[in-house]
Amino acid sequence: MAAQPDSSTSRKLIAIYPGSFDPITNGHLDLIGRASRLVDQLVVSVLSNERKQPLFCVQERLEMVREVITPFPNVKVDSFEGLLVDFASKHNATLIVRGIRAISDYEYEWQMALMNRRLRPDIETMFLMAGEAYSYISSHIVKEVFRLGGGVSDLVPPQIEQHLKNRIHGARS
Ligand code: PNS
Repeated sequence: MAAQPDSSTSRKLIAIYPGSFDPITNGHLDLIGRASRLVDQLVVSVLSNERKQPLFCVQERLEMVREVITPFPNVKVDSFEGLLVDFASKHNATLIVRGIRAISDYEYEWQMALMNRRLRPDIETMFLMAGEAYSYISSHIVKEVFRLGGGVSDLVPPQIEQHLKNRIHGARS
């Protein structure tokens, strides 16, 4: 009798990497690179949270992520609203990836992970340590420094720095 394919090994491991990405930083990209090596497919999942008054609208954030994930063939990007676990199911994802920087991230991440597990016990959350070079940066701090005239060229990809220039300094001129 012909050997049957083993469904446990042939199933693709699909993970989502959710966040606001307003805008995507080198810290996010470092995490995307490392997570993409652990799974078959990674879906960067941009929260459509206009209530938070983002600097970039969701379409712009999607486009910016698309511009910088080209080195990673198994990474794609999509936006979502509503429950993260519902979005994960839509993509057949069984894993949520989140980055942890300092210990101060832990409490919020712990709450989210346990709530997501309560909602969908079959979806696991995996935490990766942020790259040490990026462990203090966030989209928020990048925007603040840029607005106040500080350099951010080592904190975001060049395309994103250009988008920041257009949005922040373009708006001033
Ligand atoms: O990068 P951020 O802004 O810290 O990401 C937060 C995000 C998008 C992961 C979180 O706000 C989220 O999952 N929102 C979707 C709403 C949801 O599912 N809430 C229940 C779990 S707490």
